[in-house]
Amino acid sequence: MKRGSALYNDPARAEGQPVGTVVITGASSGIGRCTALLFGRNGWNVGLIARGPAGLTSICSELVDAGVRAACAAADVSDAAALDKAAALLESELGPITVWVNCAGNGVYGRFLDVTIEEFRRVTEVTYMGTVNGTRVALQRMVPRDAGTVINVCSAIAFGGLPVLSSYSGAKHAVRGFSDSVRHELIHQRSRVSLTTIFPPAVNTPFFSHAASHLSGSPRPAKPVYQPEIVADAILLAARRRRKEMRVTGITVMFDLATRLVPGLVDRAIQRLGSSGQQTDDEAAAQLREPTLFAPSPHASGTHGPFDAESRRFSTQMWLSGFSLAAVAMIFRAMLSRLGLNLRPDAPSLPIHGPQDPHPMPAGSAQPPAGP
Ligand SMILES: NC(=O)c1ccc[n+]([C@@H]2O[C@H](COP(=O)([O-])OP(=O)(O)OC[C@H]3O[C@@H](n4cnc5c(N)ncnc54)[C@H](OP(=O)(O)O)[C@@H]3O)[C@@H](O)[C@H]2O)c1
Repeated sequence: MKRGSALYNDPARAEGQPVGTVVITGASSGIGRCTALLFGRNGWNVGLIARGPAGLTSICSELVDAGVRAACAAADVSDAAALDKAAALLESELGPITVWVNCAGNGVYGRFLDVTIEEFRRVTEVTYMGTVNGTRVALQRMVPRDAGTVINVCSAIAFGGLPVLSSYSGAKHAVRGFSDSVRHELIHQRSRVSLTTIFPPAVNTPFFSHAASHLSGSPRPAKPVYQPEIVADAILLAARRRRKEMRVTGITVMFDLATRLVPGLVDRAIQRLGSSGQQTDDEAAAQLREPTLFAPSPHASGTHGPFDAESRRFSTQMWLSGFSLAAVAMIFRAMLSRLGLNLRPDAPSLPIHGPQDPHPMPAGSAQPPAGP
């Protein structure tokens, strides 16, 4: 495995301690898989949840081969009891869960009246109720300990629905409202448990092969498309800093603002996008079609979809989020120094990594029982 970026190196890692235990739903493919690898590189114990054994075994072996303490448990996120069982198993293998990432999701492309009631309900049960179930399972463990972070992977689509994605748009709007509500409850209870909602843009993952579809072409992400590593960086950053919401790219920030400031313009842009901007005749995309809404794939998936050539690898928004505190401090020091007010000329330069993890492992659990 490649080394994690210097920006996100955890101080605890240098001391050889696990930073904590993260559990990720939807960890076998796309954003979840990428996030599992990033947390693993940064010294976390990693618990993996998805349905398909092939995908789970493949990501678990990749992590374990790289020296990461990792364990997996198969569960359908729409089944609250199964998810609770999976969480208990992962805690017994890896120690108390410090961060829980709700990343499992699926969709169906097609006009509202072409989508069956069963498909619509299933997308809602996986993408919305899966997040609700995951949040419940995590908070039942974190609230009594008064420590932990829940991270809900939402979508820029929560700021404005797209055509041919009505069930998914509805589910992501619901995820945002639900997450907001629970966060307010936690704040009201003066809990130290935090909840962050992440809003990725369109991302190049196998999602578009996995979604069900009634379109004539193969589903594709609406442009511009970003690589999943950028979203994984945002999730790791959210694990370290209490954030209410994180918009992962400048495009997401602009989309959110535009829906409020110039809704007419946004409507026109979405009309132009229509369904043609969300499908492709590309043969490679057609060959990768493998809808997994009702059952997992028998094959393991990777982190990327087939749109590498057009996908952006860098987000200024994320770069600024990661460096904001250090950058402000550096600019401040530079200004003082120009004014001849260098208060601590011998002070070491600012570290480029983020602050200490806000939720370190509780005493006595720094070395959890051996995993697989
Ligand atoms: N790709 C994008 O453009 C984009 C943009 C914004 C937000 N998102 C969100 O990011 C999250 C991850 O999506 P992705 O793009 O990485 O998609 P992906 O590559 O298709 O990965 C989906 C993951 O969820 C798991 N999963 C699906 N249904 C499940 C179920 N019922 N129970 C448990 N696990 C289930 C899958 O494994 P199994 O099939 O084996 O269960 C897989 O690990 C989703 O919430 C998605 O809505 C994606």
